[in-house]
Amino acid sequence: MTRAVTVRVPATTANLGPGFDCLGMALDIYNSLSIARSDSFRIDISGEGAGALPRDGRNIAYRALLTLAEEAGREIPPLRMTMKNEIPLARGLGSSAAAIVGALVAADLFFDSNLSRDKLLEIAEEIEGHPDNVAPAILGGCIVVVKDGPRLVHAPVPLPPGLVAVLFIPDFALATIEARRVLPQQVKMADAVFNVGRTALLATCLATGRLDLLRVATQDALHQPWRKALFPAMEALFKAALDAGALGVFLSGAGPTILALTTHDSDLVAHAMREAAHIAKVPGCTRLARPSMQGAHLVDEE
Ligand code: HSE
Repeated sequence: MTRAVTVRVPATTANLGPGFDCLGMALDIYNSLSIARSDSFRIDISGEGAGALPRDGRNIAYRALLTLAEEAGREIPPLRMTMKNEIPLARGLGSSAAAIVGALVAADLFFDSNLSRDKLLEIAEEIEGHPDNVAPAILGGCIVVVKDGPRLVHAPVPLPPGLVAVLFIPDFALATIEARRVLPQQVKMADAVFNVGRTALLATCLATGRLDLLRVATQDALHQPWRKALFPAMEALFKAALDAGALGVFLSGAGPTILALTTHDSDLVAHAMREAAHIAKVPGCTRLARPSMQGAHLVDEE
């Protein structure tokens, strides 16, 4: 068994507008997670969530490690988990997917269990419940992922060069469970058709570089209209981003982060989103990110 491993795992943005529960993209904002043999059990957390996340058996990353050890039939020695978090919590940027995926990939290396990426993906999805976050967190890039019975079927969407994500990250947190509670159980056929077409268009225009189509391709009728109730300023921020030249704009995952896609004028778009948020009295900050073509990966091993 290895003595210590450290992995880095990217943030993820799910849905990208219309691709509800089936499309996600990794971003170059990373958490790192180390597992090392130690004299006694210990969890250390710095950065995002340092004061809020549990450091005992309730910790979601530690629970993922336990699941992997059980799956691989390994005894767990006294160990220390160290998390350095850059991904903001409960903002729609895949922080829990990152914690789970980071722990699974690190534990797989630590225990030399050599599980396939698909097996890790399956375990992660069982724990996290959102394949559109865990798939890009493991695989990197932009991923379409669907369930076929118990199986997760996934494929990468090639991304055009130079894509920049302008994030407006509100100061308030929004639990995914809350953001799903506002969604209806049934949808109208016209709304389903609206999203099916745009999801197909989105994958195609990303793959072929037709960035001029992103404005329409990132529209959604299945979840954002309902989630507006939880974040009324959303529409004003969308409009500000598009007016400032964004190629497309959407709620990142279940929100509340808003993500505008650009290839240039990113600072102008960020400025416009901050202004709109200021007018709407929504405190928050902007940040630029690029797609991460790397999913969770080893950065150090002893
Ligand atoms: N597709 C999920 C949702 C993502 O929108 O609820 C959760 O991160």
